[in-house]
Amino acid sequence: DKGGHKHFMSKEIAEQPRVIGEAVRHYLSDDGNAVALPGDLDFTQIDRMTMVACGTAYYACLTAKYWFEQLAQMPVEVDIASEFRYREPPIPARTVALFVSQSGETADTLAALRYCDGKADKILSVVNVPESSIARESDLALPILAGAEIGVASTKAFTCQLTVLLMMALKAAEQRGTLTPERLSDLLSALRALPNTLNTALEQDGNIANAARKLSEASDVLFLGRGLMYPLALEGALKLKEISYIHAEAYASGELKHGPIALIDKHLPVVVMAPRDGLFDKTVSNMQEVLARGGKVMLVTDAEGTVEAAGDAWQTITLPAIDPVLSPILYAVPAQLLAYHTAVAKGTDVDQPRNLAKSVTVE
Ligand code: F6R
Repeated sequence: DKGGHKHFMSKEIAEQPRVIGEAVRHYLSDDGNAVALPGDLDFTQIDRMTMVACGTAYYACLTAKYWFEQLAQMPVEVDIASEFRYREPPIPARTVALFVSQSGETADTLAALRYCDGKADKILSVVNVPESSIARESDLALPILAGAEIGVASTKAFTCQLTVLLMMALKAAEQRGTLTPERLSDLLSALRALPNTLNTALEQDGNIANAARKLSEASDVLFLGRGLMYPLALEGALKLKEISYIHAEAYASGELKHGPIALIDKHLPVVVMAPRDGLFDKTVSNMQEVLARGGKVMLVTDAEGTVEAAGDAWQTITLPAIDPVLSPILYAVPAQLLAYHTAVAKGTDVDQPRNLAKSVTVE
């Protein structure tokens, strides 16, 4: 049942405020003032984490690396499951291995989990299907509570993965004493406000559909972002490739001048993900480099960023302001809607893109 939507993907995008609200409530204490995780996870007894996943779930892990490192001072390594399992990396003592998977049945991720069994101190998973193989074979499985995801392109599962991973990082920060109680409480308030913030972002649907009609004429698109916006840029490019079949690539903004800048011309749209955070000026200076070479910039930012930097942009998508720590969850929405509307404009099969399967149970 598509609930009045043309595609499962658009239904699942629209469900995000509700399912994320539920996930946030599920992992908050009864009074709402602390993160409450199941099990007896003690992040003070752990020196490092290794996170393993595929595709969109891998980008959720890349995002979580920034969170665990910056908020909890916890070193994190992130790996693609198909590389990890055959590289057979050493797993040092006091390491937790964390596997993220919507289906919980991805063959490479499951094999990577089995490789860590008996080597890592603990095996954790963040899954959407609690009865799945990955959940069953973990010491502790944290459900993301996204509900069934039917569209092949992952949307609400991604943002629910991010929400749960951020809450884990906040728990780790609390236990390790790496954030002040005030900062922790601000971040929890921002999490509780997330459903409203996401609803405001969804109001950009019409603007994004207009931008997408223009994007649908491109044969290649470049996504740029820094910090937490770098993994999100990767996810935006993956989403666009998967369902619109437009070739898209993402780079960390700072890598632009190390190669991809050679591609810039008037035919290459560049989507710049740039909330008005501490890295904004750096990202904007990369955007200026694109504009100076005749590139077309689609700027995704907030109201302040729009005032400061949208002047020469080809298109601008303006989102509500948010604590920069939570920005990946918010900026996922325009990335998804952009891919969705571009695919609709091109007339591709949005929910069943060619050559793709929802659950990749063979390697
Ligand atoms: C992208 C997408 C895939 C999956 C990947 C992992 O939209 O859906 O990249 O994220 O196949 O799948 P799970 O999370 O089920 O392990």
